[in-house]
Amino acid sequence: MVEVRLEGIVKMFGKVRALDDVNLEINDGESMVLLGPSGCGKTTTLRIIAGLEKPDKGRVLFGDRDVTMLPPRSRNISMVFQSYAVWPHMSVFDNIAFPLKIKKYQESEIRRRVKWAAELLRIEDLLDRYPHQLSGGQRQRVAVARAIVVEPEVLLMDEPLSNLDALLRVKMRSEIKKLQRAVGVTMIYVTHDQTEAMVIADRIAVMDKGKVLQVGTPEDVYNRPADTFVATFIGSPQMNLVKSMIRVASGGLYLEVGRSKVKLERPELYRYDGREVLVGIRPEHVKLAVNGEGVEGVVDFVENLGSDIIVHVRINEDETIVAKVQEEPPAVGSRIVVMLEEARIRVFDPESGKLIS
Ligand SMILES: Nc1ncnc2c1ncn2[C@@H]1O[C@H](COP(=O)(O)OP(=O)(O)OP(=O)(O)O)[C@@H](O)[C@H]1O
Ligand SMILES: [Mg+2]
Repeated sequence: MVEVRLEGIVKMFGKVRALDDVNLEINDGESMVLLGPSGCGKTTTLRIIAGLEKPDKGRVLFGDRDVTMLPPRSRNISMVFQSYAVWPHMSVFDNIAFPLKIKKYQESEIRRRVKWAAELLRIEDLLDRYPHQLSGGQRQRVAVARAIVVEPEVLLMDEPLSNLDALLRVKMRSEIKKLQRAVGVTMIYVTHDQTEAMVIADRIAVMDKGKVLQVGTPEDVYNRPADTFVATFIGSPQMNLVKSMIRVASGGLYLEVGRSKVKLERPELYRYDGREVLVGIRPEHVKLAVNGEGVEGVVDFVENLGSDIIVHVRINEDETIVAKVQEEPPAVGSRIVVMLEEARIRVFDPESGKLIS
């Protein structure tokens, strides 16, 4: 177990800048999730930590040790790849034992460790089988067992659940979290699934276009997203972002949203008087009412998901606000008032996209 530090990492593939000054600290024993859209540089980051790629600039540190130029075998890491191959011609036992054999462990120690890893992943009854005799989830667990059997200092997981069906994914993600806690290994886990990230992470690093945009606990990135990219990438349905004008009048500060005004106590916004901003509010922090103080709109569209009802409310020609509610909503076409939970309103600068309140 060790702390991992990336300092100013730049990685070019020809003209493609895959990583653009990535700085990241992963604490000893922490579960860090790299989250971001396809092509943002997640796998490249893992491969650089593993030593499978060399950065063009910057350093990789394991504790005080600069490992930037060390080959993978000199770093105490294990990696589960995006396409988690288990060897088809080897039994489950031999698959898990393989990295131990490479490292020339004694036969008795190999048996002890394989048993330990197999019990942790609850595949101890499958050790004599071959991969084609396993379900996808079992094969997945073999790949994870093979990664932890050497008790690595750092466990790197690249979308290890991407090939599983939705139900199994949900089950496996909590298993992986429990396993990481039990073993206490420093884990860096890649996914583009935001729910998976929220469950597995102690902290999340949100990436886009080779940059880390925000690092924080799941609560942090969800409740205080650093910019509009993070705000809309995390959470489903997405956070609402609507254009608004800030007005300071004798009564205080108001947001003009749609055709209505919303009063807001935020001293830091006074200097934005007369300027346009983006108002962010999550669908679960929006309430609907037949009348009252709020943003006027018309029910446009309703999606019933069983547990929740998603209501799209049109507030002007080109903007809607989405609400997540439990009660039966008014019929499509009805006039309605949208109430934004004041403490939950987030305000972003429309040019930089950065959070300003
Ligand atoms: N060997 C390579 N040669 C050229 N370009 C590459 C190479 N590997 C990655 N890239 C490019 O670098 C960028 C980052 O790729 P990377 O594989 O790290 O993305 P990712 O975040 O893991 O995406 P995904 O979610 O699709 O796996 C992409 O634009 C990709 O096309
Ligand atoms: Mg990838």
